[in-house]
Amino acid sequence: MADCFVMSTLHFVYLPRNTTETLICSFPEKSSELQNPVRVFIMSATNNTFENVKAVILSAHKSATSRDKVNFYNSWAENYDQDVAVLDYRAPSLAANSISSHFTGDRDAAVVLDVACGTGLVAKQMKRHGFRHFVGIDGSEAMLRLARESGLYQDLKQAMLGEEQLPVQCDSFDVVLIVGALSVGHVPAGVIRQLCKSAKPGGCICMTTRSNQDNLDFKAVLERELKQMEEEGLWICVEVTEVEDWERAVSEEEDGYIPGAVYLYKKL
Ligand SMILES: C[S@@+](CC[C@H](N)C(=O)[O-])C[C@H]1O[C@@H](n2cnc3c(N)ncnc32)[C@H](O)[C@@H]1O
Repeated sequence: MADCFVMSTLHFVYLPRNTTETLICSFPEKSSELQNPVRVFIMSATNNTFENVKAVILSAHKSATSRDKVNFYNSWAENYDQDVAVLDYRAPSLAANSISSHFTGDRDAAVVLDVACGTGLVAKQMKRHGFRHFVGIDGSEAMLRLARESGLYQDLKQAMLGEEQLPVQCDSFDVVLIVGALSVGHVPAGVIRQLCKSAKPGGCICMTTRSNQDNLDFKAVLERELKQMEEEGLWICVEVTEVEDWERAVSEEEDGYIPGAVYLYKKL
C-alpha cells in the first residue's frame, strides 16, 4: 500500500516495495494549485547498484537542515541496510571493534546507548561482541520502526538532537555510541557533551566521523570540542583510529574509498 506524508511543500511518496523507485514530488503551496507533481529525484535504490545508491546519497546532500535530513532518512529507511552494504559502510563494525578491544566490564550487564541508531546496524555489531542491552535514539520515525523490528533494543526514543536534549538520565550508560551521524546537517558536534553526561563515570563513549574533503571543517570543530572537554577534565582519550577505507566514495571529486575516524573516550 502506498503511503504519503507532507513536509512543508515537499511530499514524499512511498511506492510499494516491489516497484523500482520512490519519488520526491514537489507541489505548490496551496492545494487548489495542485497540478501534476514534478519529479525531482529518485529516492530509493531498489535496484541497488552502486550508481543507484550513489544517486540516493547525493540527493541527501540537498537537505539544508537536520529536519530535512531526517525526512530523507524517513524515505530511505526501508532500503537503508541493503544500500549501505553496497557502499561497504564499515563504521558500525569499526566502532564496535574499538569498544570491544578496550571494554573491561561485564558485557552481559552493560547498558549501551546507541545515539542516531538508525535501523540498528550498530547494536547488531555490538551484539556480536557480547553486548545485550541497548537503548536507541534517532530523529527518524521510519528508521526507529526498523530498529524496533530488529528486536535488539529494550527501549527506543525519538529526538531531534541539536534541537532537543538527549532524552536520557545522566550517568546511566556503560557505553555510549554515535556512529555515522556526526557531520554537517546531521547531529551537531556540541551534542557530544550530552553523550558524555549520559555515560557512567568510567564508561566508554565512541564517536565516528568521515575524514573526506567535504567533512573536514566539521571534523576540525568536532576535534576542538573533544580536546576542550578533555582539558575540562570530563573525559580522557583512549584511542583515535584513522581508517583509510571507511566507505566507498560517492562524490564526483572522489574515487575508491573515503577515509574516516573512530574516537574512543573514557568518562572521568
Ligand atoms: C547514516 S545513519 C547512521 C545510522 C546508524 N548509526 C548506522 O551506523 O547505521 C544517520 C542517522 O542519524 C539520524 N539523524 C541525523 N540527524 C539527526 C538529528 N539531528 N537528531 C537525531 N537523529 C539524527 C538519521 O535519522 C539516521 O538514522
